[in-house]
Amino acid sequence: MRTLASLPNLDGKRVIIRCDLNVPLDGDRITDDGRIVASVPTIKHLTDQGASVIVISHLGRPDGTPEAKYSLAPAAKRLGELLEQDVFFATDTVGSEARGAVKALDRGGVVVLENLRFNAAETSKDAAEREAFAAKLAEFADFFISDGFGVVHRKQASVYELAKALPSAAGLLIEKEVEVLQRLTTTPERPYAVVLGGSKVSDKLGVIDHLLPNVNKLLVGGGMVFTFLAAQGHKVGSSLLEQDQIATCQEYLKRAAELGVEVVLPTDIVVASKFGADADVAITPADAIEGSPFGASGLGLDIGPDSAERFASEIRSSKTIFWNGPMGVFEIDKFANGTRTVAAALTETEGFSVVGGGDSAAAVRILGFEDAQFGHISTGGGASLEFLEGKSLPGLEVLGFVA
Ligand code: 3PG
Repeated sequence: MRTLASLPNLDGKRVIIRCDLNVPLDGDRITDDGRIVASVPTIKHLTDQGASVIVISHLGRPDGTPEAKYSLAPAAKRLGELLEQDVFFATDTVGSEARGAVKALDRGGVVVLENLRFNAAETSKDAAEREAFAAKLAEFADFFISDGFGVVHRKQASVYELAKALPSAAGLLIEKEVEVLQRLTTTPERPYAVVLGGSKVSDKLGVIDHLLPNVNKLLVGGGMVFTFLAAQGHKVGSSLLEQDQIATCQEYLKRAAELGVEVVLPTDIVVASKFGADADVAITPADAIEGSPFGASGLGLDIGPDSAERFASEIRSSKTIFWNGPMGVFEIDKFANGTRTVAAALTETEGFSVVGGGDSAAAVRILGFEDAQFGHISTGGGASLEFLEGKSLPGLEVLGFVA
């Protein structure tokens, strides 16, 4: 994969950089700035060399037209604070304001252009439309740096076609993400444990398929665990259940046994009378969820305390751990213990711990952990999972990466 080292000196050059500044917002307040923080080293590296930098990104999934709630203005402001320099924000992407701002850029200056996805061509299915949009972006600069790891699985104009339109290379963030994820797929130190959570099994099929032959332990929590419990013949009350995936989970359990992979499922569950902070809760054995005081209407919303401790001890005794997906509804304190205990174990283990996925990364920060307590926190949600699935990712392939 082409990296910054493959480019000539960038002093006095204009560089356009694709970042993933797609951060969660509450109004115009950023609730987790992790992706902006992760974008800083490459931008700083470029400005330190004397390049002028044009930052482009998407935020959310607008419909190809401008929508105030998806503006990158708050992200541009935060980037300026982190870079400790003035960052100009252009209220369009390839329009007159963007053109003027790029023209006015000084050596070492930084401008952020408005959300790429306010232009339908960015995500168009038609390659010619994407190429035409990429060509407009390419007019702004001499070089292109791709550093939005969270979008490398998308064949979109600013990720794929722009990398072909200019001399291009991966930035420091993509380089680091690829190095870490490659370590997981090729030479993980053993025992290697993968902890999967989140709501749906159907989102994780590819990753389970690909990881099963390579891991020593698979720990399953979160909403997806109820389909595994159902696959073992247990009733799960009103908990989340993907009926059409029960057979797939049975097949995974069988294959894991054949491969000698230990599948660790919770033995107790926090069952709630309803969804919400004011629900009544009871802890029940995982094989008797309907035995809780709420009967068949009980909802499993977190793994129970015994299971959380078991998961933590498996994590502490592993040499490599990859975690994706919360263990329960961690946003509500009553259902946060599983996720908090798993996160804490990841900070305590002497093994190499990798937190993957937007939700899990946000969870550890919301629960008060610091990035530095983990081996690596990936900025990619779908991107890191697809990498671990062994898929070829367009945004990496175009930079010369071979899976
Ligand atoms: C993400 O949040 O995973 C990335 O920013 C990609 O966003 P997308 O799924 O809307 O392409």
